[in-house]
Amino acid sequence: GNLQKNFFSSRRKLGSRTVAEKLETTLNKDEIESRDERKSFYTLQEERREQAERSVLISCPPTINEKKFLKHLSRHGDINNCFFYETFGTYAVVEFSDKDCVASLKEGTRIPSSQHESTVPFKTRLLSVKTNNLGDQSKTQPSIQCLKQTPIGINDLIQKLSKEDSIDQQLYSLMEEYQLTEENIRLRFLVCSLLKDIAAAYFPECIVRPFGSSVNGFGKLGCDLDMFLDLDTISGRNLKQAGGGFSLEYQMKGMPSERAATQSVLSVIGKCVDQFGPGCVGVQKILNARCPLVRFSHQPSGFQCDLTANNRVAMKSTELLYLYGGLDGRVRAMVFGLRCWARVHGLTSAIAGAWLTNFSLTVMVIFFLQRRTPAVLPTLDRLRDLAGPPDKSVIEGNDCTFVSDFSKIKLEKNTETLEHLLQEFFEFYGNFGFSRLSIDIRKGKEQNKPESSPLHIQNPFEPTLNVSKNVNATQLERFVKLCQESAWLLQQGEVRGRGAAGDAPWGVAALLLPSVSQAAGVAGRKKRKREPASERIKSLLESLKTSKAAGSTASEGG
Ligand code: GTP
Ligand code: MG
Repeated sequence: GNLQKNFFSSRRKLGSRTVAEKLETTLNKDEIESRDERKSFYTLQEERREQAERSVLISCPPTINEKKFLKHLSRHGDINNCFFYETFGTYAVVEFSDKDCVASLKEGTRIPSSQHESTVPFKTRLLSVKTNNLGDQSKTQPSIQCLKQTPIGINDLIQKLSKEDSIDQQLYSLMEEYQLTEENIRLRFLVCSLLKDIAAAYFPECIVRPFGSSVNGFGKLGCDLDMFLDLDTISGRNLKQAGGGFSLEYQMKGMPSERAATQSVLSVIGKCVDQFGPGCVGVQKILNARCPLVRFSHQPSGFQCDLTANNRVAMKSTELLYLYGGLDGRVRAMVFGLRCWARVHGLTSAIAGAWLTNFSLTVMVIFFLQRRTPAVLPTLDRLRDLAGPPDKSVIEGNDCTFVSDFSKIKLEKNTETLEHLLQEFFEFYGNFGFSRLSIDIRKGKEQNKPESSPLHIQNPFEPTLNVSKNVNATQLERFVKLCQESAWLLQQGEVRGRGAAGDAPWGVAALLLPSVSQAAGVAGRKKRKREPASERIKSLLESLKTSKAAGSTASEGG
């Protein structure tokens, strides 16, 4: 309440300029400076896709000499960029300046012959170094530096965050650790491009596009790679019939429905990936799902992949999240923090089920930020009103139009800190009238629930659908309880002052410790290996339990 706000503002005035505050200033400045240079989603996607087409993925001996390796490859043309990483072996991503270089490289590449196996001569841009000349046997230490493609563990994260000076700094630091790196994003686009080469065996002009958290700005290192096989790019597919004497059209096989067509396309591509796709293992065709897909693991990259087709609305929701995340520096930091919080407490899971998804949770954060006064984020209706003619998009009768150009969006002047927003988020959802209200980011206002699912989040582009239909009452209740508990924990932080207890987990780090009050609910699930919570946090949580039991219940309100 008020007391907390006073504490908050006095601390801001009194506090010395911490690293956090300095960073905050830098972020804001950069933000303002880069504001109108931010690329639209589509522009960025096209740049990255083109870059991936000029790139190859090469398996290398771990002792490879980088200089010799690059010198050898540069016989085929200029190399713009190269980096190494390790999965089941050492790999290099090499970006050439031109597609012709890749063609030249492929021309000089041998098809392997093996005494024990026969191979199908299926040529891709996944290659192996097969000479010892490039190795560096003289040294025991590899000369290359491998870039990590996975995030730090939760315990290390908690330790790291505990050393930060403010909650704002903790959230930015968490995002720094978790977000996809430039190299990881390149690798994701490269895997899509390699997949496109496989799908091109059937559909020469297709494009495979990443969507979901790989490209929406909220992806965590190690997240799955969602891909969309786009056949609309096949030339002439969307041409309007010209007038004139006569025109020709292809004879094609008919399908009873679009869904059946999608299933049959994914079925053959799935088979092709399974039988000829190098490095693609564990291929599963999940064609009867609401959104049919082919799931597999791409070993050279270490990515778990989901390939879908005819999934344009998901592409639009990805673009929308990208836009919201790019509008204000606080949005991504907050979403990363809350996604992490939800994951450690088992509110979200890698397995599909009755729990919240990262997508639903992100929509909830966006909605909360729309509800601030002044608003941090504009409503989707506002974004639609700002759209220009090229932004127009109607998919299966649904209006998916919204502005893509960042510079057209003028924000309200909200200067709340992340600490304050986080606190308010927990209070907002800890007291939200879920039983009768629906979350609607299009209007940016609560609506009456049209149906009785425990949690109702209106799908932004398919208004009759509920994004969180899968969430059951128990999971929603756990979410609400954790919000209340987290709000309480953060309030304790306000009075306690920072750094008083050395490096003991505090602020966001404390929120990531196991919750005592919900430990019973966790007992049935696989227990995470984690250091014991510090005595201080344990006692905080104990007193929380007591205060809850004493009857401080949440009121239903909106
Ligand atoms: P993580 O994979 O959990 O990191 O996040 P993600 O955003 O990639 O989620 P997921 O892989 O489950 O889904 C990929 C994309 O599909 C999302 O980003 C959304 O664009 C879309 N999507 C997922 N679930 C839903 C849903 O219930 N409704 C709608 N409309 N779109 C969804
Ligand atoms: Mg995903």
